[in-house]
Amino acid sequence: MALEVQPGDSAPADTAPTYTAEVAERVDHLYDRMKSVIPPFEWPAYAPEIDAILRLKRERNAVVLAHNYQTPEIFYGVADIVGDSLALARKAAETEADVIVQAGVHFMAETAKLLSPDKTVLIPDVRAGCSLAESITPEDIALLRQRYPDAPVVTYVNTSAAVKAASDICCTSSNAVTIVESLGAERVIFLPDEYLGKHVARQTDVEIITWKGHCEVHERFTGQEIANYRENHAGLQVIAHPECPPDVLDAADFVGSTSQMIGYVRDRRPDRVLMVTECSMSDNVAAEVSDVEFVRPCNLCPHMKRITLPKIRQSLETLSPEVTVDPGVAADARRAVDRMLAAS
Ligand code: 13P
Ligand code: SF4
Repeated sequence: MALEVQPGDSAPADTAPTYTAEVAERVDHLYDRMKSVIPPFEWPAYAPEIDAILRLKRERNAVVLAHNYQTPEIFYGVADIVGDSLALARKAAETEADVIVQAGVHFMAETAKLLSPDKTVLIPDVRAGCSLAESITPEDIALLRQRYPDAPVVTYVNTSAAVKAASDICCTSSNAVTIVESLGAERVIFLPDEYLGKHVARQTDVEIITWKGHCEVHERFTGQEIANYRENHAGLQVIAHPECPPDVLDAADFVGSTSQMIGYVRDRRPDRVLMVTECSMSDNVAAEVSDVEFVRPCNLCPHMKRITLPKIRQSLETLSPEVTVDPGVAADARRAVDRMLAAS
């Protein structure tokens, strides 16, 4: 996917730190963790940014939460906590830092703010959105409730705080079935990811009413593409994220959240694997397991890729852009997230 470069995507030359012998001494040991996926000629560009961010984190008493889709220089270079949406939400609630930098997308930063209202939560680029979060509004939920008055509303965390506030409970891709069944209802409204909803429906007797939201990254995979990869790569294990269309999930050997997919590769060590998801994740896992061959279609999430080392540094320098949640929705949104954490 071609990424559009916007003003502010890289640091102005006069403020960008440079690679000196002192910087090399402080951070070159970190390169070992990513050397299989980052070529040596790129390291001098990353090292001074990593060095500056590590210093700023200490000065600000800050932590960097990084989603599994962040690029290896962020994932291995500056992140304190990495994981899927559920793990990041849990850790955001537990951290004792004063400042949280969300290396992920806006809904993840909002969730962190809901769970840590007294902390400063930063998102290095406010434009880091999500097609699922864009697909539904609180007004849509009000109409659905009128149509299905007996059905509680389960909302995927990939939504705005206002949508969470209009819901009964949240879920993530790793706990969706548990959450749906925790309600004891005969049917639930499941929003906004149609494919995740259909995947849940196949694993429960609860009737699932879905919405037409899709992830712009996962909806592009096809069952035919998976069949082609299998034909060309003998012994291939296919593991997919549940945001993929049903024909892709039918063609997969395993379906799970990003962290569950990583766990599958770590534990089972397949000879060859295709991770049907955002492609930076394969880089991060490949850096950790050298005995697995990764077959890589590359679908990038343009929102996740807006987060870069220079922007994380600038965010820590300026303590901005700060994420706030409208007090009118914060309490109800927090209740939906807390209810999920208690039930999962
Ligand atoms: P996970 O919760 O599985 O990490 O998914 C988040 C996401 O945005 C997937 O596209
Ligand atoms: Fe949203 Fe899809 Fe990007 Fe995840 S990968 S943040 S669901 S657009």
